[in-house]
Amino acid sequence: MKFTLKIWRQKNTITAGKFVDYQISDVNADMSFLEMIDVLNENLVRKGEEPVVFDHDCREGICGMCSMFINGRPHGPKQAVTTCQLHMRSFKNGETIVVEPWRAKPFPVIKDLVVDRSAFDRIISAGGFISVNTGNAQDANAIPIAKENADESFAAAACIGCGACVAACKNASAMLFVSAKVSQLALLPQGQPERNQRVMDMVAQMDNEGFGACTNTGACSAECPKEISLTNIARMNRDYLVAEITAK
Ligand code: SF4
Ligand code: FES
Repeated sequence: MKFTLKIWRQKNTITAGKFVDYQISDVNADMSFLEMIDVLNENLVRKGEEPVVFDHDCREGICGMCSMFINGRPHGPKQAVTTCQLHMRSFKNGETIVVEPWRAKPFPVIKDLVVDRSAFDRIISAGGFISVNTGNAQDANAIPIAKENADESFAAAACIGCGACVAACKNASAMLFVSAKVSQLALLPQGQPERNQRVMDMVAQMDNEGFGACTNTGACSAECPKEISLTNIARMNRDYLVAEITAK
């Protein structure tokens, strides 16, 4: 297969970026999108040009690093798929593919397709944990958890922190991400002692980072590679309201 790639090149955070066109041929249909960029970069290095900088780590759909816009959609044209799990057979031979970084003020571009997502780390540091005494692990049967709650908590915990929800949202809202991280603990007995403080602290940090408000558009959930449900946002809003009322 061969493609024309229009890739966003940006030297650093403060320099203006622009699209640069590249031609690539001999692409195997079963290559992942990242493997295709690897081939492009090998060609660029051979020609003495600077390779395209992009984030990646696990290449198994579990780390959330491979974040980029492909043809106007986070992680490309397939539903519930990360860029590393997207294959070139999903594109038409000869197609022009446009590749951009996430566009959101709290995610400044570091270089080319790499953005700084440390805002997510700071939100987790603000409360996305439980405080426990370390020691021997408790017998799992000692804390009974309803099957429904365990399933919902597990589904929320599937969030890989990729930031596609923010990138897809017209308001650059991080509500889906934050609500998934709040919910995974709010649904379990272990998350109860710090439940109210957690939601207040994480929402405050989210606002401090400059993420926009949620207007219930739903683009976040539609583009999420882990199909995190909007129900988590409703749960977080309820928890926040209860926390605010009981704190007064
Ligand atoms: S909610 Fe979905 S889109 Fe947002 S960070 Fe988590 S996995 Fe990525
Ligand atoms: S590289 Fe880890 S999810 Fe894609």
